[in-house]
Amino acid sequence: MKIVIVGTGYVGLVTGACLAEVGTEVVCVDVNTAKIERLQNDVLPIYEPGLLEIVKRNRQDGRLFFTTDLASALPGAEVVFIAVGTPPGEDGSADLQYVLQVASQIGQLMEHYLVIVTKSTVPVGTAAQVNRAVKNSLDARQRILDYDVASNPEFLKEGAAVNDFMKPDRIVVGVNTAKARQTLEQLYHPFLLNGHPILFMDIASAEMTKYAANAMLATRISYMNDIANLCGLVGADINQVRKGIGSDPRIGKHFLYPGIGYGGSCFPKDVKALMQTGREYGYQLRILDAVEAVNEDQKKLLFGKVLRHFDGDIRNKKFAVWGLSFKPNTDDMREAPSLVLIDSLLEAGAIVSVYDPVAMEEAHGYLGNSVTYAEDMYNAAENAVAVLLATEWNTFRMPDWQRLRSLMQSPLLFDGRNIYDNVQLTQLGFTYYGIGKTT
Ligand code: UGA
Repeated sequence: MKIVIVGTGYVGLVTGACLAEVGTEVVCVDVNTAKIERLQNDVLPIYEPGLLEIVKRNRQDGRLFFTTDLASALPGAEVVFIAVGTPPGEDGSADLQYVLQVASQIGQLMEHYLVIVTKSTVPVGTAAQVNRAVKNSLDARQRILDYDVASNPEFLKEGAAVNDFMKPDRIVVGVNTAKARQTLEQLYHPFLLNGHPILFMDIASAEMTKYAANAMLATRISYMNDIANLCGLVGADINQVRKGIGSDPRIGKHFLYPGIGYGGSCFPKDVKALMQTGREYGYQLRILDAVEAVNEDQKKLLFGKVLRHFDGDIRNKKFAVWGLSFKPNTDDMREAPSLVLIDSLLEAGAIVSVYDPVAMEEAHGYLGNSVTYAEDMYNAAENAVAVLLATEWNTFRMPDWQRLRSLMQSPLLFDGRNIYDNVQLTQLGFTYYGIGKTT
């Protein structure tokens, strides 16, 4: 089977590479010439473990192609995925202009039956808009061609996207014809052989599933952050509480980690977009109002602890920030809570030195020269009055504590992800602040 994927961002690239890996012929299309040229030379625009090997192998084997020319990509294809960006508009709703532009182009260029699939995270009702855009283009050409529109949201986690794609918990597909269903069943057949379930449903439900899942996960995080903050006040330890509640299978042990708030390109955007959909239909998603508010406050939590420790004065004091990306194993800085923390420190007159194993270059685009970029985690901590852990990269898990202590002006640690043991650190002479613990 041959397919086309429009958009070589995170979703498009992972989808294209992984579908090629199971034997599909995949042509990835993007308007960005420089990006396509780099991809033709095995240079990826994103950091994602395992992806480069798959891209290289499948390009070499002649199953994965990159081009800027949609017209030459479409002949012989059975499915076209639209995987272009949907940046948030001013009111929080997803901006669909790129998705609809691509839909119009497909209508202008198609010459045979196609299943046109939205892969980008798009609000309920988008497939209907895509349908109209394709139809308008066909009408303008005075062509009558059979085609179907479908919705196939992705559930990839950055840093684990290849694995998530190859071993999906579920594949969600919204279709409204048997022909589209059959085509997509055939496309995903290799995954079904391995026992991964495919859930066919109507298009609106597929579109809603994506938002409902991300909003629920964001809710879990804000809830745990709220409970953690209360634990800190009443003298309970959120780590123990987390284990205690997570062993109820109805709750489950995953995704219960408090921290300095959720970030990234998905949760903040999707929560806002779902609230906006609610507003459009005159329905207020009150739970999500709270989820967002808690998250905003949580991003300021560590800074609040810092200020309290220093009685409100941190001018000209040096702070080391360990970890910048919104989570480990990615260089993605979008909506990273570290940015809020660093901004607050700088605004209060502090000097900030940062280190991240992968995201330094990406972070430079956000922070410019307002901070110093250290060579490693120890270098960042030299003469610092405190280390602030913002992202739980594995490299930060077991520092040489003696060395760290001797480098710092004072042995003080603010652990934004609860990866350290406060008892051990206190024994080592550090003053320790975590999330949801009494300290
Ligand atoms: C998320 C979802 O987990 C994926 O299923 C979904 O496909 C993806 O969004 C998407 O819509 O494309 P992602 O944003 O890559 O994936 O990252 P997550 O691992 O979900 O983490 C999101 C944020 O939540 C991070 O800032 C992380 O630090 C935070 N988090 C996560 C916590 O604070 N506590 C936890 O227990 C888990």
